[in-house]
Amino acid sequence: MADATVEHSEPVTAKVEGDGENGVRRRDFIEIAAVSFGGVGALAVLYPLISQMAPSADVLAESSTEVDLSAIEPGQSIKAVFRKQPLFVRNLLPAEIAAAEAVDASSLRDPETLEDRTAEGHLNWLITMGVCTHLGCVPLGAGEGENKGEFGGYFCPCHGSHYDTAGRIRKGPAPLNLVVPEYEFTSDTTVVIG
Ligand code: FES
Repeated sequence: MADATVEHSEPVTAKVEGDGENGVRRRDFIEIAAVSFGGVGALAVLYPLISQMAPSADVLAESSTEVDLSAIEPGQSIKAVFRKQPLFVRNLLPAEIAAAEAVDASSLRDPETLEDRTAEGHLNWLITMGVCTHLGCVPLGAGEGENKGEFGGYFCPCHGSHYDTAGRIRKGPAPLNLVVPEYEFTSDTTVVIG
């Protein structure tokens, strides 16, 4: 009676182990299949969202700004608007270019040369956002008779940041130079920002 029990228990035990291994593999497969399906499902949901977020060509065109430089004399600046933010376009005098180039850029808080911040062959055209990099006030210096600060560029009256003739931060709390947006000269007197 006891022997019969032993004889039957071995194949039963072996069968249970075998089912266990197969069962684990099947479960793994089902889980992987479920995850894969979930991934495809998530992508299918995300794709329309991402494609909606990508700007269309006409939106991109609207978000660029064309500036006519022909009326800006050496030593003058204008204020324009780029993507709803102030933009400064400045025609630097030779003396202002020389002042910017006389500074050792590596000694600056945000080390950049005037060449780094202007387009090749257009060293006199300083094009920057008119937004202080401290807390976002609009600096003075682009308008006729405005305070240009201690370094002859721009001055932010909110907390006293001084920018030089390359729009680089030289004194005060602003951490970075005025931002240079992407732009391209489409002729000697026309530039497209954005
Ligand atoms: Fe310009 Fe603070 S926002 S110095």
